[in-house]
Amino acid sequence: MLSLANPVVFDSALLHKYNQPLPRYTSYPPATEMKETFSSRDFEAALAIGNYRQTPLSLYCHIPFCESACYFCGCNTVITRHRAIADPYLDYLERNIAQVAQRVARRQVNQLHWGGGTPSYLSPKQVERLWTVLHHHFEFERDAEISIEVNPRDLDRQYVRFLKDLGFKRVSFGLQDFDLKVQAAVNRVQPEAMLFNAMDWLREAGFESVNVDLIYGLPYQTLDTFRNTIDKTLQLDPDRIAVFNFAYVPWLKPVQKKHIDPATLPGPEDKLEIFHMTIDRLTAAGYQFIGMDHFAKANDELAIAQAQGQLHRNFQGYTTQPESDLLGFGMTSISMLQDVYSQNHKGLRDFYKALDADLLPLERGVVLSRDDILRRAVIMELMCQFELSKAAIAEKYHLSFDQDFDDYFARERQDLQALEADGLVRLTPNHIEVLPPGRLLIRNIAAVFDTYLRNRTIRQFSQSV
Ligand SMILES: C[S@@+](CC[C@H](N)C(=O)[O-])C[C@H]1O[C@@H](n2cnc3c(N)ncnc32)[C@H](O)[C@@H]1O
Repeated sequence: MLSLANPVVFDSALLHKYNQPLPRYTSYPPATEMKETFSSRDFEAALAIGNYRQTPLSLYCHIPFCESACYFCGCNTVITRHRAIADPYLDYLERNIAQVAQRVARRQVNQLHWGGGTPSYLSPKQVERLWTVLHHHFEFERDAEISIEVNPRDLDRQYVRFLKDLGFKRVSFGLQDFDLKVQAAVNRVQPEAMLFNAMDWLREAGFESVNVDLIYGLPYQTLDTFRNTIDKTLQLDPDRIAVFNFAYVPWLKPVQKKHIDPATLPGPEDKLEIFHMTIDRLTAAGYQFIGMDHFAKANDELAIAQAQGQLHRNFQGYTTQPESDLLGFGMTSISMLQDVYSQNHKGLRDFYKALDADLLPLERGVVLSRDDILRRAVIMELMCQFELSKAAIAEKYHLSFDQDFDDYFARERQDLQALEADGLVRLTPNHIEVLPPGRLLIRNIAAVFDTYLRNRTIRQFSQSV
């Protein structure tokens, strides 16, 4: 079990050495392995298996709209002030939900998340409409985890109260940075008073958990400005804090290319210092490093689940829910059934066109092989628990008695030995243990087991730290 004393060690020489673009392993194989040759029959077959097993469901609804573009944004969004655009979108989203629900039987929902874009772009009437549709088509467990991403600029006390009264229990909001110069440079101006008000209203309404997102590596950030951002964030006192490394991918995101001047970005040394300071301050304030970019208070469910060996990971990141089938609704949404991943069309027009033709709006997907499933188990165990029992994996995934874990992963064992020499992992006959200096480099450790990486163009991913 994970030792919580001294959970991360910041070693800048190691971070430099291992800093390279890598997948974030919210899934294995990563989403980049989904192909357009995927057929909706594969999706339907996987749904049928889940029905048979009565696998619980996790639902995701994508609301792609934002009123204005944040220049850092790497998400799939539709920018428009014409809020009426959401009505036809909800018509299609409803059709997408109904067509999938029709193929689902005898399964309960234990998790629902609305993400974006910006779900708080929706008016209360539109929120209520989507809520009703979901509850009409699916049966929810009483204590299902129900969460929504909001933009603090959309909020007022009434709207927050409305979300809570409707049944949302958790909220995540994009804070990004407190500094006004940084905010202006990324077109995301939200003065301090607005952020503190938002948090007051969320607490007053009684949300179970509030997460805030920060990004380091944005234009004009310095160690001093970001220290101030961290200190103010600690005053806000959220339950969880995500600190994302700015994924600067101008070759993929025209908005970044057009508006972000690379000369204004902090350099790699500055970023490492910012990151170091962030970890020190958050852990000193009692937040635990969960993994990747995530910190949570020790009494938060994520931290407790990790300590109990019950943490999981899916396309939405770390989660306490045991392995459920994730059904994604809306443009660009990803579904993650036991052995199948699929993604809906990324463009609004294609998404609508498929639904008009009464087809599942799937753009691409992948059916996992036995080898993928085994490697996924290894990678997720390392990402969530920072350690792995070889015998437990060999037994669960039925490696034959004449081939144990070390035989199957002979090549990986050699790569791990190099990481062991650098103090990232400890290898024993039955365990792989991620040591404190390796915890910030968990993507690099997971990548050892990623067979696709060798053939992939590395530019698809952002830097590992
Ligand atoms: C899908 S966004 C939703 C946030 C919500 N719509 C809002 O406006 O507050 C989730 C989070 O991803 C992070 N994010 C978006 N683009 C990013 C990038 N290029 N690099 C790092 N983090 C990014 C931001 O912190 C953002 O809050």
